[in-house]
Amino acid sequence: MRVLVIGSGGREHCLAWKLAQSPSVDKLYCAPGNGGTGLVAENIDIAATDIDKLLEFALSQKIDLTVVGPELPLVEGIVDRFKAKGLKIFGPVKDLARLEGSKIFAKELLQKYGIPTADFKVFDSAEAAKTYIQKKQAPLVVKADGLAAGKGVIVCLTIKEAVEAIDLIMVRKEFGAAGRQIIIEDCLKGEEVSIIAFIDGETIVPLVASQDHKRIFDADQGPNTGGMGAYSPAPLIGQKLLTIIIDKIFKPLIEGLNSEERIYQGILYAGLMIENDQPYVLEFNVRFGDPETQAILPKLKSDLAEVMLKTVDRKLKEVVLEWDQRFCLSVVLASGGYPGDYQKNKEIKGLDKLGGLKDVFVFHAGTKKDTGFFTSGGRVLNISALGDTIKEAQNKAYKAIGDIQFENMFYRKDIGDKALKSAAA
Ligand code: AMP
Ligand code: GLY
Repeated sequence: MRVLVIGSGGREHCLAWKLAQSPSVDKLYCAPGNGGTGLVAENIDIAATDIDKLLEFALSQKIDLTVVGPELPLVEGIVDRFKAKGLKIFGPVKDLARLEGSKIFAKELLQKYGIPTADFKVFDSAEAAKTYIQKKQAPLVVKADGLAAGKGVIVCLTIKEAVEAIDLIMVRKEFGAAGRQIIIEDCLKGEEVSIIAFIDGETIVPLVASQDHKRIFDADQGPNTGGMGAYSPAPLIGQKLLTIIIDKIFKPLIEGLNSEERIYQGILYAGLMIENDQPYVLEFNVRFGDPETQAILPKLKSDLAEVMLKTVDRKLKEVVLEWDQRFCLSVVLASGGYPGDYQKNKEIKGLDKLGGLKDVFVFHAGTKKDTGFFTSGGRVLNISALGDTIKEAQNKAYKAIGDIQFENMFYRKDIGDKALKSAAA
């Protein structure tokens, strides 16, 4: 099978690494890829959003399966375009990619199918939004409707902050058209966790639960990022809670969509808040999480290419995922300035020292290969490690990081601490 992975982050290196292990994959491409994907696949210089060129490439190279990493091409309809040409592609169609592309679309579906989520109201004028919040109590959450690179959600601790958030999105138009409409949501309390599942329109096959670390600094301080590290499984989610999540969230959504003849295929990522053992949906993503994937796939024993094909062919009920029972923990190494403007072109040293380490995996994100490996993005590398306990996985990952250096490299020192605390509780 000839497979194309679209994207250039740590998630895509991890997907490509796992797909390369599949006996059915003869040739693997990654577009545009990064320094790491070049080690397991052939990088093709086409941007992840250049759907015309990607389609041309897939047709001319007779690609049997295309795997879309990031949300943007999905939201822009890459799946519909490939399918129209008879090509197999893993991901939801444009209509359903709106579960991530439009928070209003997602919230209205949640409401329609009685799926637990925070109460909300939609506004298309700053004035009406401000009048509404005067009657509400803080904290409140203000969200731009559209994609805003993970920055369109502002948790406001006071009404004054909420007014500022409305101004930022609707008056100063910080996120452009993504902020034409906003949602104002009640603030939920609890522990965040994500459940990512394969869905073929009918069967739901969850991956092991994972926990991201969104804030830039230790102890969840500072601004939100794409994610600074993750671990799986998340001890918070036992079998009982997983069953509740599937029964109260995934099933009603997929069955509701089916009743409207909308067939969801691909990955659905539910960002959840768990309060008093009950899950509430914070957000949906229509693709694998980054860095969650780098903490999940090293545990997967099953053949990823086969599972993806079964998802596309609507045969997921034949699949039972097999897992390594150990914990996996992944730490992001970032470049100075991230999540704001960051520096690039810094040489990465020490990668060669990690090659032989057992159960330690390096997934590249913002890297490029030249005379050596150089930084080219904000999140640069992910160091993942497997261990019998979270502590062991944590120790292995941080020990390996000790060998890596680039100018102004930084990373969170507390990835996994939350799991250690909840395990001790
Ligand atoms: P989202 O992109 O919608 O997941 O929002 C990003 C982050 O904002 C989430 O991971 C939560 O930490 C926080 N958040 C979003 N919605 C809420 C809510 N209703 N209550 C509390 N926190 C929220
Ligand atoms: N790590 C969060 C995300 O992938 O959206």
